[in-house]
Parts: sequence; structure tokens; C-alpha cells
Amino acid sequence: MSRNKLRRFEENARMPHVVQPDFVQLSGMESFYLKDHWQEFFPAGGGPVTLELGCGAGEYTLAMARLFPDRRFIGIDKKGARLWRGARISLEEKLGNVAFLRLQGHLIDRVFGPRDQVHEIWLPFPDPQPGLSRARKRLTHPAFLERYRKFCHPDAVLHLKTDNSDLMAFTLEVIKQQQLGLFEYYSDVHRQLPEDHLLRQVITKYEAQFLSAGRIIQYVQFSLFPQNH
Ligand SMILES: C[S@@+](CC[C@H](N)C(=O)[O-])C[C@H]1O[C@@H](n2cnc3c(N)ncnc32)[C@H](O)[C@@H]1O
Repeated sequence: MSRNKLRRFEENARMPHVVQPDFVQLSGMESFYLKDHWQEFFPAGGGPVTLELGCGAGEYTLAMARLFPDRRFIGIDKKGARLWRGARISLEEKLGNVAFLRLQGHLIDRVFGPRDQVHEIWLPFPDPQPGLSRARKRLTHPAFLERYRKFCHPDAVLHLKTDNSDLMAFTLEVIKQQQLGLFEYYSDVHRQLPEDHLLRQVITKYEAQFLSAGRIIQYVQFSLFPQNH
């Protein structure tokens, strides 16, 4: 392991707003200590929670935390060296409404419960997981939506931003089949939205690479729960 990575891991362990559940805590033998208690975790107090899953350096988490001080934001990634960057910035800026969580996404329902008031999940540029055999790993697969439903608010909303048209087509099909509410869809974010829109203001590391390669960025916002009632 590189010294740089090691230093980041050491810093993560010292930062009070970085949570890294270990194997035993996630084993399911007993409930994770923050499950249903995230409202008490933030120095700024409780409030509606937004998750950014596969956050990398947490660009959306940071931007939204600055814009909405009354809301709470948690950046989640399986790679500690990546979320370290967002964690450092939020500490330097003294953002009391931000946390970072090192976690494999499929374990998310072991860490959050219905009392945590998760209202939103952002998925900026998730790994597209191409091919049939990997479909269940897509963060918008019905199996993932089922996990999110265990702890999200009934009005919860998901945001997917991607350059991958197969992942977008897959997600639109899931939305249709499950009768979820389709609130917003842009087939070309950077042509259809004004420059000052959040989706154009926050350009993540991966988005910058995709844009310079000439790729088209799409976005969909949809309800987590069916809208057929
Ligand atoms: C393509 S990168 C995008 C990062 C960031 N959202 C951005 O736009 O720059 C995908 C990120 O998702 C993380 N990731 C992939 N699968 C994951 C999973 N199952 N659980 C948690 N994080 C995951 C990776 O470690 C990586 O940081």
C-alpha cells in the first residue's frame, strides 16, 4: 500500500465525522450503533438526511451541505482513500452537517434504519456494471431499491447522473416496471439546463473526465416508492 494511502487511512480513523463500521459491526449479530441514531450524530443537530452513494471525493455532499445548512449529508464510498478528500474539506470548512461513511453499498440497510429520516439518495456516476451477470450490482437495481426502502422516508427521491446510456435505459425501465414517479429527466444535462443549475455547477472528478472525452451526461430524478396509490 502506498504511503499516501496509508496516511489517508490514518487520518480517516482520527476524524470524528468519518464512520468506518468493521466486519463484526456489520455481521448482523447485533444492530450497528448508529442505525436509527444518525439524527444524534451531527454537531449541527438533526434534520432530513441525504445520502451520496459511491461518493468518491464527495463533491455533491460538500456542495449541498454548503447550500442547505438545515439538511444533513452523508457521503458513502467503499474506498477510504477516496472519501478522505471530502472528509478533509468538510473538516477544514467546519461543516457540522456532514459525515462520511466507508461501506460496501449492499450493506447499507445494516447501517441505516427507518428512524434516520433519509429523504434523498444521490448516485453521481455510479459504476455502470455492464453485462447481465453484474446487473444486481447496479445501484438502481430493484434489489438495491428494496434495501433503500427499508430505511427511507415514504417521500424519498433518488437522483442518478450518468454518462452511461445503458445504465440510464436500465434505470428508466425499472422506474416504469415498478410504477415509480418520474420527476425529472434530462437526456443532455449540459445542453438542456442553465449554467447556474446545481447539476451543472457541481462537476465531479469523473464527470470532468467524461466531459473532456465528449460524453453526454444524463440525469433522472424519481421516487423510491411506487406512485400507484
Ligand atoms: C465512477 S466513481 C464516481 C465517483 C464520484 N461519484 C464522482 O462522480 O466522481 C464510482 C465510485 O463508487 C464507488 N463504489 C462503487 N461501487 C460501490 C459500492 N457497491 N459501494 C460503495 N461504493 C461503491 C467507487 O469506489 C467509486 O468511488
